[in-house]
Amino acid sequence: MVQRDIVHFKPYLKSITIMKPKGQALKEHPFDIPAVQAIDTLEFHPDVTFLVGENGSGKSTILEAIAVAMEFGAQGGTGNFSMDDRDGLSKLHNFIRPKRSYQRPRDRYFLRAESFYNIGVYLEDLWRDPDARTSREQAFRRYGGKSLHHRSHGESFMSLINDAFSGHGLYILDEPEAALSPSRQLAALARIHDLVRDQSQFIIATHSPILMSYPNSKIYLLDQTGCRSVPFEQTEHLLITRDFLNAYPKRLKQLLSNTPLLDLLEED
Ligand SMILES: Nc1ncnc2c1ncn2[C@@H]1O[C@H](COP(=O)(O)OP(=O)(O)OP(=O)(O)O)[C@@H](O)[C@H]1O
Ligand SMILES: [Mg+2]
Repeated sequence: MVQRDIVHFKPYLKSITIMKPKGQALKEHPFDIPAVQAIDTLEFHPDVTFLVGENGSGKSTILEAIAVAMEFGAQGGTGNFSMDDRDGLSKLHNFIRPKRSYQRPRDRYFLRAESFYNIGVYLEDLWRDPDARTSREQAFRRYGGKSLHHRSHGESFMSLINDAFSGHGLYILDEPEAALSPSRQLAALARIHDLVRDQSQFIIATHSPILMSYPNSKIYLLDQTGCRSVPFEQTEHLLITRDFLNAYPKRLKQLLSNTPLLDLLEED
């Protein structure tokens, strides 16, 4: 029997290094974000890497810069979309040095938290434009053959990962759970696992303890002190959600009587 070598395609993106500017720029956005200041090199898991942390800790800024440095469209999508990318984009991508595998991903997608609607609008415009080379069928085929605007937000997202993501891909997702019910988050987790087994790599910013429980992963916590790798069991997302659900009548009583959250957690 012929023994074939196993080919390892992943990780497509091994790591990024953030170069630091000199002088005043180091004190300005985005270098005033503690995690951006602290990260020298960020190593990615071959399967899934999560960026987690408080609102404003820098997850989207870093994700967007990685996507642009990897030549994905800054507004999201496959990178082939010719939408204007400039609005609101930080300059961080200019300072990012990606370390890639020799193997390029066959598929790729950047889901920017705010841009899913824009992608639907873009596809609708393509369909209406008689001069557009891309036919309605071509434009929508990738999304299951139906306009995204005829689906709910969650249905659109599930169609994206079920129908459009084709494996051997690098997928960068910003808060994919925003659209999803808890049961769809479980379905998304299972689909992510299928894609991982089909040679895909994910980098995901999330607040969802369901998603970040995925075992073949590395979780980076971004906070005021910088950026460090943490086990799922030590994330606030798990601890606070579990604590609340296990004792919600008591927690509600305390919360609604204006007891500060930290005092609640320290109480028992
Ligand atoms: N164009 C900008 N100019 C100055 N500051 C900005 C700009 N864009 C974002 N910021 C700030 O950068 C910080 C990081 O923002 P970012 O959107 O990356 O956070 P995040 O971790 O994704 O938060 P969330 O969980 O709420 O999505 C925030 O304090 C934000 O106010
Ligand atoms: Mg964000």
